[in-house]
Amino acid sequence: MNITVLTGAGISAESGIKTFRDSNGLWENHDIMEVASPQGWQKNPELVLDFYNQRRELLHQVHPNKAHLDLALLQQKHNVQIITQNVDDLHERAGSSNVLHLHGELFKARSTGNPNYIVSWKKDLNIGDTCPDGYQLRPHIVWFGEAVPMMDNAIKIIENTDILIIVGTSLQVYPAAGLMQYAPFRSKLYYIDPNPAIESTKNIKVINEKASTGVKKAITELNL
Ligand code: APR
Repeated sequence: MNITVLTGAGISAESGIKTFRDSNGLWENHDIMEVASPQGWQKNPELVLDFYNQRRELLHQVHPNKAHLDLALLQQKHNVQIITQNVDDLHERAGSSNVLHLHGELFKARSTGNPNYIVSWKKDLNIGDTCPDGYQLRPHIVWFGEAVPMMDNAIKIIENTDILIIVGTSLQVYPAAGLMQYAPFRSKLYYIDPNPAIESTKNIKVINEKASTGVKKAITELNL
């Protein structure tokens, strides 16, 4: 059975990583366009690097929670593909093998001169940190206004899924938010979020709970 899990910031909330759009979320305290857009990077790269250095520093201090761990366990019995909007590595640390990062990865840096030069980067990233060709490195993050290169792969995965479980996303950011439209008609859809963006219909079951309990509930209801 093919199981696809689409996750957003909410799955990492109980690990201690702030979501973006909840009250006191990241975008309440930062101007999106200043820190997460190509224009912001052109205008003030130090500010952008500082923002992601803080995120990276925090990521070193947190751990996967029960929801990440329960999803990782699922792959013992099923073919599980995680598609995450998150730039943290908590799914990987929980043990999930197949993780597609739609919006990039905090622990990677990329050359501003060669988009194919991508390296592991766990410390602060500063002005003057360059690739071997001398180009400044930038966070390996998909910023607002940029293409989402992994989208085609994500669509193919969802088109072949038997079950789609969506966890902890406000479904505000496209194209990621449109991915569920690609789930086959016969597939089963679950959406777990304590403040869900949509209501249950005959096509999708909404579990109005935090990820730590909601994921377990979905796994039990689906008999996985
Ligand atoms: N368990 C599950 N869901 C939770 C929890 C929790 N403990 N706490 C909060 N949530 C839910 C909120 O109710 C909300 O629906 O997580 C969701 C977080 O929404 P956003 O902050 O908008 O995060 P996300 O949907 O992942 O954002 C998408 O926006 O700026 C970007 O690139 C960034 O990937 C991100 C994208």
